[in-house]
Amino acid sequence: MDEGSRMWMVTCTAPVNIAVIKYWGKRDEELILPINSSLSVTLHQDQLKSTTTVAASRDFKEDRIWLNGKEENINHPRLQTCLREKILNLQILRKLKFSLPVRRLARKRRTSGEGNSNTLSLHHKVHICSVNNFPTAAGLASSAAGYACLVYALAKLHGLEGELSEIARQGSGSACRSMYGGFVQWMMGVKEDGSDSIAQQIEPETHWSELRVLILVVSAEQKPIGSTAGMQTSVKTSPLLKYRTEIVPERMKEMIDAIKRQDFETFGQLTMKDSNQFHATCLDTFPPIIYLNDISKRIINLVHRYNSHFGETRVAYTFDAGPNAVIYIREQHVDEFVEVVKHYFPPEENGEHSHRARQLVMISSIDQSRRWTYFLCWSHICTMLMRSQVEVPSDPEEIHKSITLHAISFRFLKGLPVNSVSVSEHLKSSIQMDSIKSGIQYIINTRVGPGPQLIQDANLHLLGEDGFPKQ
Ligand code: DP6
Repeated sequence: MDEGSRMWMVTCTAPVNIAVIKYWGKRDEELILPINSSLSVTLHQDQLKSTTTVAASRDFKEDRIWLNGKEENINHPRLQTCLREKILNLQILRKLKFSLPVRRLARKRRTSGEGNSNTLSLHHKVHICSVNNFPTAAGLASSAAGYACLVYALAKLHGLEGELSEIARQGSGSACRSMYGGFVQWMMGVKEDGSDSIAQQIEPETHWSELRVLILVVSAEQKPIGSTAGMQTSVKTSPLLKYRTEIVPERMKEMIDAIKRQDFETFGQLTMKDSNQFHATCLDTFPPIIYLNDISKRIINLVHRYNSHFGETRVAYTFDAGPNAVIYIREQHVDEFVEVVKHYFPPEENGEHSHRARQLVMISSIDQSRRWTYFLCWSHICTMLMRSQVEVPSDPEEIHKSITLHAISFRFLKGLPVNSVSVSEHLKSSIQMDSIKSGIQYIINTRVGPGPQLIQDANLHLLGEDGFPKQ
């Protein structure tokens, strides 16, 4: 924490979590209390994370927030749901005022002679700057990572320790599970005040080292109906959701047991069944909620055909409130399965568009003298053009910068390395599916990871010394 010139600043990161037993439906909207317990796997922050810097100063006139490079209205309803910064401050104050760490902190301040005008107060206004390194609202639990990160950073800023998942839960339900690494359950609890509706780690990230997670990004667009609104309608209208509350307790037990025993067969089957039941509940909602698209359904078919070829569950899918598939798989099968995915969903680079983009780049942007340098990078420029509509600058120096910036982020395969292997004709003939060009935008290969982290390196703060976002 920096204590110079009456400004305190901390930066933290927090992970995305992907549920294998889904949370869908609240019994208390205000406190965000779920109708069933849920269980998730925390993804590694090397590939997916939220980073948040929080600064507090008596010089700040008002609370302000910047999300992914853009200032947002801190009172915006969506931000209120995801961040609820003011309420959060109050909750930290109310909740942790009585807890040991705060008293200890206060005592420490008294004995160290603090308490003067340089003392950090909960009444100081805060500046918050937060970025995700993955598409926001694409069904990749961005609000969970973002909110977990904000709660963790505010707690660190005020030197508070203790059970924070109860507070994170009140920003976005699934955020409470992002407060821990590894395998995490959110126990629904029974108390009216929600004090027992908290997350708990079942096993740490080191427990099942061969487990890998592939995210097949089908669409990075915002989902048509958000989780909060979607589950409200499901609670009101879906009889299947009521049935679900009866069967989840047994499923939770089986899932915890499978994880502890590293039994992929049971883990994978339960994961797929629970995802399917969640989406069946969405369809049972009236009017129905449809998160899966044709590509999602093709991925489901592909996984079942792949597993049935081998006569065992090698791969398991799960889908949240969006069309992107999250695949659980063991390390030894990753290379082959990725090759299968590439075979049935060939990446854009081979497509007609890329040819056009290549011509466009050639004609409009390439300085003749540098043609050979850029020749090597054409495919990245083309991918850039097509996936993000990034305008190719006319100045060669700018193109060069652009390539460096975007080359890594627009590769089809991101994250942990994947080796190229061949797929047997026998496997292809068992799968027997048409291939769909550009159905999948890119794949992120990741693994199970740790919970929120405090960043010690002050150079990595997202806010500058003036308390405003760095460029
Ligand atoms: C489909 O946590 O986003 O991802 O509590 O209303 O903010 P709110 O909802 P949110 O719901 C996530 C639902 C899910 C399943 C899951 O993560 O368990």
